[in-house]
Amino acid sequence: MKWNERKAKNAIEAFSFGSEELVAASEVFRSELEKGIAGDKSSTLNPLPSYLGLPTGDEQGDFIALDFGGTNVRAERVRLFGGGKYERSACVAHPLIVPGRYNHANGGETAKGLFGFIAEIVDSVIGGDRETPYRLGHTFSFPAFQESPKDARLLSWTKELSVPDVEGHWINERLNEAMQARGMNNVRPTAILNDTVAVMLSAAYQWDDVVIGSIYATGFNACYLEKFGGAKPPMVMNLEAGNFGWFDQNEYDAALDKASEKPGSQLLEKMVSGRYVGALFSQALGDVVGETFPAVTGEDIYHIIRGDDQGLLQRMANDSLTEEQVRESIALAEAIVRRSARIAAAVYAGILRHVGSAGDDEGKNIAVEGSFFTHMSMARATLHEALKELLGDDARHVQVWQVTGGASLGAALAASMIEK
Ligand code: BGC
Repeated sequence: MKWNERKAKNAIEAFSFGSEELVAASEVFRSELEKGIAGDKSSTLNPLPSYLGLPTGDEQGDFIALDFGGTNVRAERVRLFGGGKYERSACVAHPLIVPGRYNHANGGETAKGLFGFIAEIVDSVIGGDRETPYRLGHTFSFPAFQESPKDARLLSWTKELSVPDVEGHWINERLNEAMQARGMNNVRPTAILNDTVAVMLSAAYQWDDVVIGSIYATGFNACYLEKFGGAKPPMVMNLEAGNFGWFDQNEYDAALDKASEKPGSQLLEKMVSGRYVGALFSQALGDVVGETFPAVTGEDIYHIIRGDDQGLLQRMANDSLTEEQVRESIALAEAIVRRSARIAAAVYAGILRHVGSAGDDEGKNIAVEGSFFTHMSMARATLHEALKELLGDDARHVQVWQVTGGASLGAALAASMIEK
């Protein structure tokens, strides 16, 4: 294993995302969004209607909330009291993959197996009750086509999931079949929504002036309220921002994309989200020392940047790194995270410019949920700076809030809103 100093410098440089690129990315994002909304198929953004507006804050009732993200499946009970108040209880959560035990996310799983696993989790939350009628709100964190908020057809797996026979199918219908097979006829999947939409609803239930809902975690995405110039009722649109494809890939992006389940798609997500930053780091560091490393996780990147796990770096490099090389490895991880956050800021600023609210004096709240955003303080700080760089003075009206539990609260709200 031999450290190549020139390659180390080049790798760090390869992840820089300068001011010009930042401004251009944001501007192109806004114009692609507008093309997408106008139905222009040449846009890499295909805004997906949620058929939901924003909650009034008065929603009430008891619901089961199911959150099917890219890493975990979580179900819980949510009680809405109105006035922005709610209570969550009886949470049951399981990862989709436990290495060495099971994998409900890859090509070896069947649709029946996956939905059976989800139904079992819902069953645990209701304690096997087959009497009480339950309404279930379902947060489904993948691109999906909808004709109403009641069901959604999966367009394409993302985040490296690859279970066959689910793409192209109606998700709540599949879930319903799995629940019926267990005799759970008393649980009715009432609503389904993207996780960004759930975050937006959950934030708007509690605060005013929420303009963007976003997930910055295993995956990355954002939604906003489209007003259609007053021509039709406002609706939350899921942008599938992770599929924005304008960027120049560096050699590590290109290699990661090529080895992924869906080369050529989700190019922004592959540069930004927690699912991929660790793989980018391993690719680049492997190139510097001339060896192949297994991908580290987003969480490992967090520890590397904090400097509290030098052991991990040394293990990757067979204890061969000098202090200076450790410093450069940390600088590489920082460059990857900094680029990620600057791209996220470009997305948010692009949406703000589209909704035309970047230049007025009203407050604008951006609600963001996700492990990457919550734990990576460097990403949060970089995002704020980049928003200032992009919005100038207007940035003072923009607040970025960390949200937790938005997926579940949003699922309950959606179920309650469509029953009105
Ligand atoms: C999916 C989005 C989702 C995001 C965050 C992406 O991979 O395509 O639908 O909102 O991950 O979970």
